[in-house]
Amino acid sequence: MTIPPSGKAGCMEKLVLGIESSCDESAVALLRVQPEGTPEILAEEISSQSNVHVHYGGVVPELASREHLRALPLLTDQVLRTAGVELAEIDVVGVTAGPGLIGCLLVGIHFAEGLTMPHAIPLYGIHHIEGHVFAALLEHPHVAFPYLTLIASGGHTEIHLIEGLGQYRLIARTTDDAAGEAFDKAANLLGLGYPGGARLAALADATPTTPFSLPLPLPRSAHFSFSGLKTAISLLVEEQAKNGEAVRGQIAKSVQAAIVQSLCDKLYRATREHNVRQVVVSGGVSANRLLRSQLKEQLSPLEVIFPSPLHCTDNAAMIALVAALRALQGAKPGNIHAQSRWALESLTPPGVS
Ligand code: KG4
Ligand code: ZN
Repeated sequence: MTIPPSGKAGCMEKLVLGIESSCDESAVALLRVQPEGTPEILAEEISSQSNVHVHYGGVVPELASREHLRALPLLTDQVLRTAGVELAEIDVVGVTAGPGLIGCLLVGIHFAEGLTMPHAIPLYGIHHIEGHVFAALLEHPHVAFPYLTLIASGGHTEIHLIEGLGQYRLIARTTDDAAGEAFDKAANLLGLGYPGGARLAALADATPTTPFSLPLPLPRSAHFSFSGLKTAISLLVEEQAKNGEAVRGQIAKSVQAAIVQSLCDKLYRATREHNVRQVVVSGGVSANRLLRSQLKEQLSPLEVIFPSPLHCTDNAAMIALVAALRALQGAKPGNIHAQSRWALESLTPPGVS
């Protein structure tokens, strides 16, 4: 992808630090980004908090904020040391400003302000989903506008048409639960622990048959819905309780099939309505093997691109990349406000307000 440089800001490569703390992963990354937008990751660190939240069956916001406060300085030191770079050499810092847990976002923003102020380093507040939109570019530089993107994680399930930096058209979004949340709730009902999406998927993949058919949500709508599925699964689990362990795998397989089919159907529908050659899929659910194989099969001959597993989930390299692209296109750093809710399509290209 070529991001045309604009004005003086686009003349030189940028050394960019990214900071991510919107949910339960603390992450810091340092990138060198060429004037035309090609990124090189110099160092990155991600610290997951799942060992903290596992005892509560979900993310506890207060604990998450406290963990970010502890982790971000350590991760930043580690990244700078690995890359052999001094803070004062950094050209740009990007920090996730939303959407996410408000306390977690505030910790990241205040930390970034503390880092940048003494050296007058320009600081950009970055939209977390915009990070996911561009994450594939970290490893797949041939991704080109326009493309469709599906982001399916524990907090988000949405399809956007990406026409340029800051040019995003919402095509579909969930009306209730996110796909990862549906996987996790089903896993919880099956007694697989938290977060159980990957465990449910592993159990499903190891089970040969799909004996239960679950309702496909909102078949005629462009949008997603997963809460009805949760009710259906909970009834099925209750009804099958008498059949013991043996049916657990079969229920898991049916759940995975229903969620994957819903994601494939909506994305297929989007590709019929918008003229694109590439589809980029990211978020934690994109690690799902059935989803990967079904999308490649059902969307053929379109190219379906997945970021590496590390960059499918929350990371700071994607935040650094977006900060660099915006800085290269002449965006001005400004006051940063944490926003727990923030629609991607409300963003504009650099220099347009
Ligand atoms: O993007 P992510 O790491 O974190 C956020 O939600 O921000 O996504 C985590 C979600 C969880 O709901 C998890 O259960 C789900 O991704 N997940 C999976 C798989 N691996 C992770 N869902 C289905 N199949 C998987 N293999
Ligand atoms: Zn995310």
